[in-house]
Amino acid sequence: MLQIIEKLLSEVENFKAENKEQVEEFRLKYLSKKGELSKIFDEFRMVPNEQKKEIGQKINFLKQTAQAKFEALQKNTASTENDSLGNIDITLPGNPVELGSHHPISIVRNEIIDIFSRIGFTVEEGPEVEDDWHVFSALNFPPEHPARDMQDTFFIEKNPDILLRTHTSSVQTRVMEHTQPPIRSIFPGRVFRNEAISARAHCIFHQVEGLYVDTNVSFADLKQTLLYFAKEMFGNHTQIRLRPSYFPFTEPSAEMDISCSICGGKGCSVCKGTGWLEILGCGMVDPNVLTNCNIDASKYTGFAFGMGVERIAMLKYQVKDIRLFFKNDTRFLKQFEAAK
Ligand code: DAH
Repeated sequence: MLQIIEKLLSEVENFKAENKEQVEEFRLKYLSKKGELSKIFDEFRMVPNEQKKEIGQKINFLKQTAQAKFEALQKNTASTENDSLGNIDITLPGNPVELGSHHPISIVRNEIIDIFSRIGFTVEEGPEVEDDWHVFSALNFPPEHPARDMQDTFFIEKNPDILLRTHTSSVQTRVMEHTQPPIRSIFPGRVFRNEAISARAHCIFHQVEGLYVDTNVSFADLKQTLLYFAKEMFGNHTQIRLRPSYFPFTEPSAEMDISCSICGGKGCSVCKGTGWLEILGCGMVDPNVLTNCNIDASKYTGFAFGMGVERIAMLKYQVKDIRLFFKNDTRFLKQFEAAK
């Protein structure tokens, strides 16, 4: 019996393991229920009483040694397998890290900001949750104007005075209230309308509003600024045309079309055969609006314009369905960084 214990002791001490499988072999062979140690403990019951003390001590020593060895083997193999260079072929190419890309709406918004920054426009922002004054009343909307209707506007908790802004023109009001002219700024932001969602309309979208107020600002300044913008955004060959229109906060008001960037003005399905695409609303700031914001309308004039970022992105990238911008499908979103 003593001999067997000695033999096992030397086996245990000299055992070598290079991987986890061999460590497991060690455990099965010596430490498991059917292992060598368990057998020895069984046989120990037959040992005559006078030898029990001596043999018992040896068996306990063997058990402790095997246990300690097992733990040491576990530690060693764990550290070599985790060793950063141990089993790794450093000549293999690395796993590519997937990079995100800018959302097309961000790309277009940033481009609009760049274009206007180059001619001295600053950027300001205003709150998305607004009051009636800043969105409608100060902008000359008569009380019965349909844009105030429940059908168009999201009101906050039935309080008709607090609402989600339906356009970024509200930021005009805020800026004019706290700044005296000259004012030359654009206001990018999210707007909200209670509309059925379709390929052409969404209840949340983005606008960029522009405002220029100073002495002697004329309609010609507006036209030249917007022509510059259209050429920068859609290419130097782009032409513009202004059609008379109506907005409560501008007088006169206009809508601006650009020559169709798809067919170059010849007429196609995108421009519905007209050769023109509508891209924004604009006009000379109504003197009532200046007065509402404490700006002297006898001294200053101004122009304003507002455009939908989704609309411009759809034209620029030929996206046919506005809902794609809000689905966050990475297969769609990935395509735009390269397109820039
Ligand atoms: N706020 C208008 C809209 O959401 C767009 C607009 C039209 C803004 C004319 C303007 C403007 O500043 O002068 O449809």
